[in-house]
Amino acid sequence: MPIRKRSILLRDLRNYLTFLKDYGFSEIPSESGVTLELPSGTKGLPYSSIDTDKTSHMKTNKNITAKPNISIENVREELGDCTRCNLHKDRKTIVFGSGNPHADLVFVGEGPGADEDEQGFPFVGRAGRKLTEIIEKGMNLRREEDTYICNIVKCRPPNNRDPKPDEIAACNPFLIRQLQAIRPKAIVALGKPAASTLLGRTVPIMKERGNWYEYEGIPLMLTLHPAYLLRAYTIENRRNVMNDMNKVLTKLKR
Ligand code: URA
Repeated sequence: MPIRKRSILLRDLRNYLTFLKDYGFSEIPSESGVTLELPSGTKGLPYSSIDTDKTSHMKTNKNITAKPNISIENVREELGDCTRCNLHKDRKTIVFGSGNPHADLVFVGEGPGADEDEQGFPFVGRAGRKLTEIIEKGMNLRREEDTYICNIVKCRPPNNRDPKPDEIAACNPFLIRQLQAIRPKAIVALGKPAASTLLGRTVPIMKERGNWYEYEGIPLMLTLHPAYLLRAYTIENRRNVMNDMNKVLTKLKR
């Protein structure tokens, strides 16, 4: 097998194993009766790299606030015309991210919907309008200038289903690299899938929203997804999201 193909296969395998471990698996049963233990010690964030050689330093130092000079354009180039998971089959456009790649604040959502797939930008449909309203009216920030917005998967899951674990795992190296390139002062995870992906565990979002966590040294706030907010448009949910965003503004000293 050509070396390039082999290294891609190994990379994908490693990403998948890391993902399983982060989702709570400690071993892989095999038909031979031999049980393979997943290595311990890299708890939390699903560590993955795009190119093993170029990112070997990441294995020992995972503090992304002290990262090398990668630009968001580099990450986009490395993503290419991605076919790493099945989502590429039905997508129209890769929805990489939008906003200011030097922003202090990054919002991470779940995955593109039909409008985003059509237009190639995240959060441009109904939920996107709600997010823009939260940012611009609620936080008094400018969406494109003051924030960067992306998703845990860059291609639309068919019929707006939740992204599957292997799809999230395939895309995760690019999310990590986006955050490495931007190095924001705060990250907001919008909804359970984003929170769970960034924290590497299943997050009960209604319970844990409004609290600060850390993603590789960067303050991480969990809040409700704007699509959920639209579905459950109660005073309590709206107030909760605004309280969460006020905490973010305080953290950013705005
Ligand atoms: N919902 C998301 O999570 N992301 C988008 O880009 C749009 C809707």
